[in-house]
Amino acid sequence: MTIPVGEVPVPAVVTRLAAGRVVSAVWNNEIGGLTFQIGHGDGREFVKVSPPHPSVDLHREAVKLGWAAQYLTVPVVLDVGRDGPVQWLHTAGINGRSAADPHWIARPRAAVRAIATGLRAMHDRMPADRCPFSWSVPHRLTALSEPARRRLPAAPPIDRLVVCHGDACAPNTLIDDDGSWCGHVDVGDLGIADRWADLAVATLSLRWNYEGDWEAEFFDAYGIAPDQARIDYYRALWDAED
Ligand SMILES: Nc1ncnc2c1ncn2[C@@H]1O[C@H](COP(=O)(O)OP(=O)(O)OP(=O)(O)O)[C@@H](O)[C@H]1O
Ligand SMILES: [Mg+2]
Repeated sequence: MTIPVGEVPVPAVVTRLAAGRVVSAVWNNEIGGLTFQIGHGDGREFVKVSPPHPSVDLHREAVKLGWAAQYLTVPVVLDVGRDGPVQWLHTAGINGRSAADPHWIARPRAAVRAIATGLRAMHDRMPADRCPFSWSVPHRLTALSEPARRRLPAAPPIDRLVVCHGDACAPNTLIDDDGSWCGHVDVGDLGIADRWADLAVATLSLRWNYEGDWEAEFFDAYGIAPDQARIDYYRALWDAED
C-alpha cells in the first residue's frame, strides 16, 4: 500500500472517464489495485481500479458509500462498473490530503489525532441500529479457512457495537490543511462490529505509516483507555484474513 512512483500504465477505463483531463496514479494497494486522480483542485475525481479478488467488490463499496454519506463525508459515487475482469469505482474528490500524504507523515502528532477524532466521529454518528451491513466476528470467521479459524482464540465479549469503518488504516482518513479530519474513503468493509475491531487495526496501522509509537496519542484523542485483550484478538483476526 503505497503512493506509486514512476510510470504507471493507465487502464482504458480511466482514460475514457478522464475524457482528456490529466490523470495521475495516486495509490497502489497490496493486491495490485490502483487509484487514479483525474484533474486537479476542487473538481478532481478519482477512479479505483481492481483486478479480480475474492475480498473486493466495488459495487458493494458503492452501496456502502451511498449509505454512509447520510451521516458523514465520504466520496460521492459517480459510477461503478466492470471492464472485462477489472472492477472500477469512479468518485468525486473530497477535500483534504490522505493521512499518509508526505505532508502528514512529516506531522505525525497532528495526523494521528485527526485519524482518532475522525474515527470517533464515525463511531458516534453512524447508527448501528439502522446499518444494513455487518463486520461482526461470526461474519468474518465464515470467510476464513477451517485451520485459520481454529488458530484464533475465543472472541472477547462485545464492548460497544458501532458502525465500524472496516479498514481504519491511516491512508483512509483525509485531513484538512488546518489538521482536522474531513472525510473517509475505502468503506468496502464498513459494517456493524465492536468498536475494538476498528481501534485495534487503526492503532496497529500507525506504525506502518509514522515513525515512533503513537498509540497512546491515538487513544487519548479518541477518548478511550486501551483494552489489550480486545486489541490482541482483533489484530489476530485481521492477520488471519491476510
Ligand atoms: N473520492 C476521493 N477523494 C479524495 N481522495 C480519494 C478519493 N478516492 C480515493 N482517494 C485517495 O486514493 C487513495 C486510495 O483509495 P482507496 O483507499 O479507496 O483505495 P484502496 O486501494 O482500497 O486502498 P487500500 O490500500 O487501503 O486497500 C486514498 O487513500 C485517498 O488518498
Ligand atoms: Mg485505502
